Amino acid sequence: MSGFETLLYEKKDHIAYVTLNRPQALNVYNIRMRDDLYQVLRAIKDDAEVRVAIFKGAGEKAFCAGADLSEFLSAPSPVIARQARFGRDVWGLFLSIPQPLIAAVHGYVLGSGIEIALSCDIRIASEDTKFALPEVGLGILPAAGGTQTLPRAIGMARAFEMLLANRRLNSEEAYTMGLVNQVVPKNKLLEAAEEMAEKIASFHPMAVRNAKQAVLRGLDLSLSEGLELERRLAMGLRGYKGEHEG
Ligand code: COA
Repeated sequence: MSGFETLLYEKKDHIAYVTLNRPQALNVYNIRMRDDLYQVLRAIKDDAEVRVAIFKGAGEKAFCAGADLSEFLSAPSPVIARQARFGRDVWGLFLSIPQPLIAAVHGYVLGSGIEIALSCDIRIASEDTKFALPEVGLGILPAAGGTQTLPRAIGMARAFEMLLANRRLNSEEAYTMGLVNQVVPKNKLLEAAEEMAEKIASFHPMAVRNAKQAVLRGLDLSLSEGLELERRLAMGLRGYKGEHEG
């Protein structure tokens, strides 16, 4: 297990585990976590052994309760505190990870927490999960992609309600809206995420990567360009046929 100040990083049988590890502060996202996440994401991206990664939060109460507001208080203004976070493009890096990412979330999933979950491809929530984007009420904007990723996940009307009026969602509402793929009892959360990860890891890694790429890159394309992308990615797999060693 590799220890960072704010994260734990482990690998087991082609699955990487990233644990947000500031449980005493509800795993809130600070500059240190930004730098640690950046390193871990780079490690995942460059590691062919990793076929899928699971993101989770340490402690009982939260996956991540948002940005570390104590850093905001020590900065000249919340907007300046926000700008300091742009020094490393963690969110662009998230989008460029070729392997599937699964968020296994519980408890408070607020602000940057929901944005980390939205930067993953599949979300599994425990029954006690509470989602919200409180930034606008604090005089700032979600700046980890939330204004873009949330409407893509749940549609514009619902995203506006969360963004502009701080509408909170429980896990069932999040499931109904398509924000999460599954809701499970809290003591089954890791098991459910691992079951999904093991299934993905059992498939041909290049087929999995190309399928992910087709969907993500296709979102920015016209249908005809998307079909062309799909064709190219499917053709690209021919060279790998039969090379999967399990
Ligand atoms: N930044 C920094 N520290 C935070 C924090 C944040 N966003 N959210 C929680 N913490 C810290 C608390 O200060 C507390 O630390 P302490 O034990 O040293 O006093 C610890 O985490 C536990 O939080 P606490 O408020 O005691 O837990 P709770 O169960 O009573 O309430 C919340 C949980 C999530 C409702 C509440 O902590 C909260 O509203 N946090 C702010 C959420 C937010 O606005 N996030 C920013 C989004 S941009």
